Amino acid sequence: MTIDARILSALRTAEESGVSGAELAHTLGISRAAVWARIEELRAVGFGIEASPHEGYRLVSVPNALFADDLLSRLQSSQVIGRDIKVFHETTSTNDVVERLARDGVKEGMVIFAESQTKGRGRLGRQWISPAGKGLWFSILLRPPIQPLEAPKLTIAAATSLVRAIRAVTGFNVEIKWPNDIVVRGKKLAGILTEMSAELDRIHYIILGIGLDVNFDAGDFPEEVREIATSLKLETGSTINRADLAVKALEELDHDYRRLREGAFDEIINEWESHCSTLGKTIEVQTGPHQLKGRAEALDSSGALLLRTQHGHLERILAGDVTLRRS
Ligand code: BTN
Repeated sequence: MTIDARILSALRTAEESGVSGAELAHTLGISRAAVWARIEELRAVGFGIEASPHEGYRLVSVPNALFADDLLSRLQSSQVIGRDIKVFHETTSTNDVVERLARDGVKEGMVIFAESQTKGRGRLGRQWISPAGKGLWFSILLRPPIQPLEAPKLTIAAATSLVRAIRAVTGFNVEIKWPNDIVVRGKKLAGILTEMSAELDRIHYIILGIGLDVNFDAGDFPEEVREIATSLKLETGSTINRADLAVKALEELDHDYRRLREGAFDEIINEWESHCSTLGKTIEVQTGPHQLKGRAEALDSSGALLLRTQHGHLERILAGDVTLRRS
């Protein structure tokens, strides 16, 4: 952890009582002047840090921006996801950044955030609007010990983690639309883009890209998606602290990634099913060139959707785009 991350961590732990410069200097093994210089830097990027002769330094406010040091200082118990974090001011797509890191052999668990993306992408080649300060745009590098055919498990796990994180931070219940959309009142709030490099029987790496519309106002959405997209701010009526949500999301993702590695995917599926708005409905699925209609019955043990078609066959669908239909 960097010095800044350790200072923020000490300030958060001390809360109201504050922590003295001497104490910080001792714990961090640096001089009091060096502590003061780091505090000035943290203030310059927007952290409200009060200093008083009796109470020492106190953290009184945090900026509406993402800082790797801040996020890292709050994720110290993460086993894998969030062990390392970088925040870009702007990038093409955070998935591209992670892909380069993956090829360079970076360890799994690295998370890349961008305040804005110029070429954010969604599934099926769609564009993903990613304006600065309005959402959480991030990608995670994973090297899971599973077979390539099991990769959908990661999307299922991630959707489950996001539902819990959103509920914990906003108190708001959201639903999952198979396979990867987080929706509320039928409108999309978040999406997951899972990209993979693999051989037939071995995954090299997986990039889990997550886009969450947090503080969009209605006018921030292009007109063509206004009817089908929404944000947490629009739904809850309040501005959400993005750093709090980012930390909670990474904690929940880390938790589910551990469950997945330990073979407890059944638990994740049960939770996913209880939040899913697709199961039990008559749907149309576009999967590659094929369009299938039927009733969404369940997920199988690898995360594929089981669809009972009009002709009574049970189809197993690994990926696709779902539209709800009247039965
Ligand atoms: C979808 O629902 O179509 C998936 C959207 C995924 C968007 C995120 S934003 C962070 C990451 N970088 C990208 O370019 N895409 C994903």
